[in-house]
Amino acid sequence: MSQTSRRDKLLKSTSMDDALLTHVRFVVPDDAAFICALRADPNLNQHISKSSAAVEHQRTWIENYKKREEEGEEFYFVIRHQAQDLGVVRMYDFRGNSFCWGSWIIQPSKPSGLVTYSAIMIYKMGFDTLGFEQSHFDVRIENEKVINFHIRSGAEPTTRDDIDQHFVFPNSKWPAFRSASDSQIKMHQVAG
Ligand SMILES: CC(C)(COP(=O)(O)OP(=O)(O)OC[C@H]1O[C@@H](n2cnc3c(N)ncnc32)[C@H](O)[C@@H]1OP(=O)(O)O)[C@@H](O)C(=O)NCCC(=O)NCCS
Repeated sequence: MSQTSRRDKLLKSTSMDDALLTHVRFVVPDDAAFICALRADPNLNQHISKSSAAVEHQRTWIENYKKREEEGEEFYFVIRHQAQDLGVVRMYDFRGNSFCWGSWIIQPSKPSGLVTYSAIMIYKMGFDTLGFEQSHFDVRIENEKVINFHIRSGAEPTTRDDIDQHFVFPNSKWPAFRSASDSQIKMHQVAG
């Protein structure tokens, strides 16, 4: 698969279909203030890496990211529900047949099922659209809620260090997670 076609394939994915109630779109430089606000929120930033609170720094970061997006090296998404931007999530560090995902933040006033459905959108894009065989990611060891979410979804804990719990989510676990999430999929994957 050519690198450029990855982006083209994603644009055709159900997860990016803006006719659906809940979907993702690629981050653009004008999202800098939204992302800064999410990442600066003390209720949301305890377990993520620190980033500059300056909107201009974030805008420059996004402008550089857009080059990686064009090359098919990384994809940064805004999570949208009923035409409202509610969060962000990112696919990056593509290693052979494995992709990493993270930078996952959703504002606290969110509809039921959105957290699960945002993970569903990521695996749908990673496994069904892009054909990866595995996902890898890490979660700060104090971030117990998110660690538990991943364990419930079928992710397999691998190594653990002083900072992070590392996971893999093999493609073979995807059908069971998708079936278990049927109600969230029905709730969110409808015409908007
Ligand atoms: C990551 C984030 C989006 C997760 O959202 P959250 O509201 O904390 O997630 P929760 O674990 O409470 O809930 C997720 C889902 O699991 C369900 N759930 C929670 N505990 C459960 C349990 N014990 N058994 C079954 N389901 C459970 C919730 O009902 C929810 O379901 P839904 O998706 O159908 O609505 C949010 O915590 C966030 O933005 N955090 C800040 C940034 C961050 O730490 N990101 C992760 C970096 S690795």
